Amino acid sequence: MSDFEITALVLAEHEVFRREFAALDDLSGPELAAAWEALHARLEVHAVAEEQLFYPLLAQEADGEEETAEGVHDHNEIRHAAAAVGEHEVGSEPWWEAVHAARQVNADHMAEEETDFFPPFREAVDDGQREALGMRWLAFHDEHERARGLSGEDAEVAEVVATDVPAGDPSV
Ligand SMILES: [Fe+2]
Ligand SMILES: [Fe+2]
Repeated sequence: MSDFEITALVLAEHEVFRREFAALDDLSGPELAAAWEALHARLEVHAVAEEQLFYPLLAQEADGEEETAEGVHDHNEIRHAAAAVGEHEVGSEPWWEAVHAARQVNADHMAEEETDFFPPFREAVDDGQREALGMRWLAFHDEHERARGLSGEDAEVAEVVATDVPAGDPSV
């Protein structure tokens, strides 16, 4: 299976999040502010990409709707935790507390996806489609770099479940 299979790409971005949250600890001032801003935007791009390309297909499987509801609930929790960071002065104690809270909810969510959601998804969606979804994942990231065009608002479970995921590679 290639590196561009969608769950490999999701996992690779999870690793980026783990590294980038840890890297904040070594920064301060404008560098810290810029790094957090970039990380916050990336979290949103990641969540919406999953809501469009991963969860609608997971929802079609046995127990999938429940798992999708959990995933979307987590995404909204991460959105709120990340937005709360912006209420504090960058680098202040309450700012760090808010960053750590966002880091924790995101870490718990990523672990659940990797452990509980990837296996049934890989079981249900064949290799070719997962490759095609990987291409769409990359295209989505290009199109929405730094969360361009994304509202940052809560996702609705019913909307995610009803999302039509296009089949096939977007480049052909
Ligand atoms: Fe997620
Ligand atoms: Fe994820």
